[in-house]
Amino acid sequence: MMNSKAEPDDELLCLNLSRVQARQGIPNARGDDGSGVRWVKPMHHKGRHFLQIPGPTNVPDRILRAVAQPTIDHRGPEFATLAREVLTGVRAVFKTSGPVVIFPSSGTGACEAALVNTLSPVDKVLTVEIGEFSRLWAELARRLGLDVHVIDTDWTRAVDPALVESALAADTGQKIKAVMVVHNETATGCVSAIPEIRKAMDRTGHPAMLLVDAVSSLGAMDLRHDEWGIDVTVSGSQKGLMLPPGLGFNAVSQKALAASRLSRFGKSYWSWESMLGPNQTGFFPFTPATNLLSGLREALQMIQEEGLENVFRRHAYLAEAARAAVRAWGLRIRCENPAECSDVLTTVMLPEGHDADAFRTIVLERFNLSLGAGLGRLKGRAFRIGHLGDLNELMLTGTLCGIEMGLQLAGVPFSPGGVNTAMANLTARQH
Ligand SMILES: Cc1ncc(COP(=O)(O)O)c(C=O)c1O
Repeated sequence: MMNSKAEPDDELLCLNLSRVQARQGIPNARGDDGSGVRWVKPMHHKGRHFLQIPGPTNVPDRILRAVAQPTIDHRGPEFATLAREVLTGVRAVFKTSGPVVIFPSSGTGACEAALVNTLSPVDKVLTVEIGEFSRLWAELARRLGLDVHVIDTDWTRAVDPALVESALAADTGQKIKAVMVVHNETATGCVSAIPEIRKAMDRTGHPAMLLVDAVSSLGAMDLRHDEWGIDVTVSGSQKGLMLPPGLGFNAVSQKALAASRLSRFGKSYWSWESMLGPNQTGFFPFTPATNLLSGLREALQMIQEEGLENVFRRHAYLAEAARAAVRAWGLRIRCENPAECSDVLTTVMLPEGHDADAFRTIVLERFNLSLGAGLGRLKGRAFRIGHLGDLNELMLTGTLCGIEMGLQLAGVPFSPGGVNTAMANLTARQH
């Protein structure tokens, strides 16, 4: 929708967009050459915003309603019932029979909790940097005072288990206390094979713990905390669990629990021990995020109704259609090994010289669609399509339509027809 009267803020946006477009020689929506302030932002978008970033994801109305119930007394019996229900119920999503600690925190808080509970200052940890989130976790570990050994990669692949195996095999003094792996690297859309990494670790006979960041995979892609021999699985509420941001999770193995008793990191808020005691009777040592826990109960109910394995199948099927569209456009998918491509998101590279952030701005302003930004070394070079959470075929194809129209408006060279390819893909297959 065009509006000829732009507010001062809009003028600024118009100017910025026109400058970006002028730099790239892109005609804007009015067909100008980009030299004047001609782009006009729609004042009011109609319909629902398309939130297609790889988390936070769309929160279903059922969960919104659950979160919007009156806040209850977190020391009363109603809360204890709720807490016991979610603390037990969430184990099914992690596929664990052990404890899951729930913090009122973002995923990063839960990443920190995993480290400060299992390790001690100056312990050595090993990680493979496959994208911005593995880089950030390593940086967090460094700031805590851990001795972080990073194996670098070019951010186009998942973790190669052989790299972990040879690093552990070379550590004859068994100084490495933990291996940190991001399951679904949300910056690149590459998924690491945790069972293969576990087997590689076991082949060396090294006792290091396996700490896995499943912030963006839990509830969207298969993850088996117990069967895969993970010591701590870290996650958050705002991705596959379809909740607003605000809950952080640590699923904890017996080995990690034993390590926590020896940990010499100073901690209070993040202490598992302080949590696990009160949790047994349905309480928390401090004020929990009561309303989000009500939302979690609803989310677990929804996942159970659909069936966890069906949730994974739906994600795989929609992801395949999204990748088919990207391939048809002739754009490059960042994750180079098709077997490692994520069912949660697709990171798309724009051709050299095209600004992915300017493209995303056009898509947002014209079509009310939010796409994920390129992160870290992919900033401005890539955009990310989030296809996880409460998502169906029409939400996905609507998203792909917005992208295809945006590519045209942004003057990005591409082959039209990606949306048609995705539709053909979706109608041809049963999920
Ligand atoms: C894989 C991964 N790890 C960690 C984080 C950090 O989580 P948060 O932003 O909730 O702190 C994210 C967030 O997107 C993520 O995708």
